[in-house]
Amino acid sequence: MPGRTTVAALVPAAGGGTRLGAGPKAFVPLAGRTLLEWSVDGLLESGCVDIVIVAAPADLIDRARSLLPETITVVSGGTERHDSVRNGLAAAGAADVIIVHDAARALTPPDLIRRVVTTAVDGARAVIPGLPVTDTIKTVDPAGVVTGTPPRAQLRAIQTPQAFAADLLAAAHASGAADATDDATLVERLGVAVHVVPGDPLAFKITTPIDLVLAQSLVERGLWKPASTPV
Ligand code: CTP
Ligand code: MG
Repeated sequence: MPGRTTVAALVPAAGGGTRLGAGPKAFVPLAGRTLLEWSVDGLLESGCVDIVIVAAPADLIDRARSLLPETITVVSGGTERHDSVRNGLAAAGAADVIIVHDAARALTPPDLIRRVVTTAVDGARAVIPGLPVTDTIKTVDPAGVVTGTPPRAQLRAIQTPQAFAADLLAAAHASGAADATDDATLVERLGVAVHVVPGDPLAFKITTPIDLVLAQSLVERGLWKPASTPV
């Protein structure tokens, strides 16, 4: 690829935060800053993202703009996460690589962002971070009866940011599948190899009240800091 690779980050931040129960989740405070500010700051701190596009709830676009640096584009999100990603994609311009990163993963270390982006810039067309799972995972039928137990050694809990060649992400979203909970699922369905790099426990998604307590505790106790921050 001639010239420098342009990397855009799409931040889906338009969810209602139903499971957390504290209003639109991206605007929930964590140690004095909203989750949206934490996640965007992490992307900027990584130093490997050229453009940041945030998909916010339609009625909170002005609020999002007021919280973020002027260089950041804020668009309206959609009903489902994939609708929000699609709206962000439309604003991504001529980026070569697009990363999609949940606003809810507020404490994601910049080192993880760099690891994912570098692997994509070096040529992998789809890159996602994953961690080994610690629980035993079972599949169940609608009646709650176990139908299988996949071998745990083969399982990974997948996080964001997820990085894709821009044309691949656009094709994946154009394929229209509505039931995927992440972007990589859409790419897998196109038959394209998705590469997993090591994730980071600090990139956990703040989903329920327990997750927010954990995030608050990590920040208050000084146990969270970007790995690049000098000690
Ligand atoms: N998201 C989005 N647009 C939606 C739904 C979700 O941009 N229509 C974003 C969320 O803001 C979040 C990320 O996708 O940053 C992951 O979604 P999730 O953790 O499910 O957040 P919410 O949908 O807000 O939470 P809940 O499902 O509990 O309502
Ligand atoms: Mg949701």
